[in-house]
Formats: sequence, C-alpha cells, structure tokens
Amino acid sequence: LRVAVIGGGASCEHDVSLASAASVAAALDPRKYDVVRMSIARDGSWGDLGLGRAVRVLQGCDVVLPVVHGPHGEDGTLAALCELARVPYVGSGVRAGALAMDKWATKLVAQAVGVATAPGVLLTAVAAPSYAWTHPVVVKPVAAGSSLGVTLVDRPELLAPALEEAFALGDRVLVEDVVPGREVDLAVLARAGGRRIVSPALEIAVDGVFGFEEKYGGSARFIVPAALRETERKELEDAAVAVFDALGCAGVARVDFFVTDAGPVLNEVNTMPGFTAESQVPKMFAAAGMSYPALLDMLVRDALG
Ligand code: DAL
Ligand code: MG
Repeated sequence: LRVAVIGGGASCEHDVSLASAASVAAALDPRKYDVVRMSIARDGSWGDLGLGRAVRVLQGCDVVLPVVHGPHGEDGTLAALCELARVPYVGSGVRAGALAMDKWATKLVAQAVGVATAPGVLLTAVAAPSYAWTHPVVVKPVAAGSSLGVTLVDRPELLAPALEEAFALGDRVLVEDVVPGREVDLAVLARAGGRRIVSPALEIAVDGVFGFEEKYGGSARFIVPAALRETERKELEDAAVAVFDALGCAGVARVDFFVTDAGPVLNEVNTMPGFTAESQVPKMFAAAGMSYPALLDMLVRDALG
C-alpha cells in the first residue's frame, strides 16, 4: 500500500507535527507500506511541489495519514483536501476536526451531551477590554495546541500580557476557571460498525502546569494505566466516547480530562494527537498490548474501509 504521511503545517505546532510524522513514517512496516513523505511548510505552501502537484501525489496514494497538528491541518482543512481529491485518509472528517479544534465549540457540544467542562467565557477583540479579572483563570486561544499561547493568570497584572499572547494565535480567546484535578487522558479508537475501543487512561504527573516546556522538555511523567477508582474510570470512558461521538470523530482521538472530586471535567479533544512513539496515544495503547506499528496498521486499514 502506498501511504502518504504528511507533516509540518502552517500552525504554531509545525515542529511538533514534524516529529510526529517522522515517527509515524518510521513505524510503518516497509514490507507492507510504500511511504511517501510530504511536508507542508510554515507558510502553508507545499514547498517545491506546489499544491497542484501535491494533490496529484496524494491521488497516487492509497491512503493519506495527515499527521498535522493544529489549525490548517487538524482542524479539518486536510480532511477537506482529501475529500475533494477523493483519497481515503486516516482520522476525523472535516466537521469533527473543525469542531474539536475550536475549544469553545467543543465545550458547547460536550455540555449538550452532559459532559462537564470548565466554566468559561469567550472573548473577542471587541469583548476583551471589558473583561474584569476576579479570580484565577486560564487564558487560551480558542484554536491552538500544545499549550501554545496558554497562560495561568493568578494575578490581575498577568491578564493583559496573557490576552496579548493568546490573541496573537487567533481572533478568539477562551478564559476558563482553573479546574482543580488530576490531568487524565483517554484515547478513543473508532472501529467498523460503530464499535469503540477506549484506551487505558493515562495520567500526566507534572509539577504545576502541563505547558509546552513540560510537554516536550521531558519533565512530565506519564502514568498508564492511571490509578483510578472503578467508578471514575467508567465515568471517564463514557464521557470520552460521548464527546467523541457527539463531535463525530473518526480514527483515533485523544480526549483530555481533569479528574475532580465532582467527576470528570473535559479539557479538550485532539483529533490528530501527538503521535511520536513517546506521545500519549501510542503509550496508552501499548499499555493495552497494542504496539505502535499495530495501532498504525489498524488506522490505515480502517481508513480504507
Ligand atoms: N496538540 C498536541 C500535538 C497533542 O495533542 O498532543
Ligand atoms: Mg491539544
């Protein structure tokens, strides 16, 4: 099978995506797959290929693995390209990608299916000046990833720089209450016939905030399976599947929660989560006995229908 593995992209997660794509390409068994590596430059161009030739290369492949995180990739744009080019692809479609990339939309969908999220307000450039800080909040771009542009604002004087940083990554900003709880992620894998496989839960052990440095600097530790009470685990699994299905996700998605005394609180959904061998999703499935190459095999085969 000829598989196109796309990495890079025009978002702030460009480098993270290149790492994921390189790992994915290396893990695809060369006896089964003819891997065609492609990358989208930071400016959104397809390098020397140009968009026209890039599409023709994709059309010459059996399936596309779009390993691009963040806006202009994970947000449904690459799914749209594949749909229009009529090439099968791994992962969520246009609508699910777009909804999950938008943390405000995700919040509304989650609430509609009874999954709790942090209380929050949406700020636009027009609304931001009248926002008054009264208690610790997390300021984040509505559509970004890898914690870029995210700031814990626990003192009023941190608000203005936090807003500036978040607005630099998009035209809408989310201000959420700080959720006191453990950070626990689950992955949901969609199989044929509506069957869902939920990975073991993974807890992120980190001092303070799980920000960009902690994500990629190696100071955070993953505990998988996370130590959870049976009822907590069941609630998390049900919530993860409910949100995955309500958004209409496909392939695999990582659903991130805070586990609080009052139950799980959804943080966000990643339709193209970090995918190096050391990232959460491969670690989660490894804990269930599914190797990284086997997980990729399953995703590729399911994308072909
Ligand atoms: N957005 C990063 C890549 C993640 O979800 O792991
Ligand atoms: Mg994310």
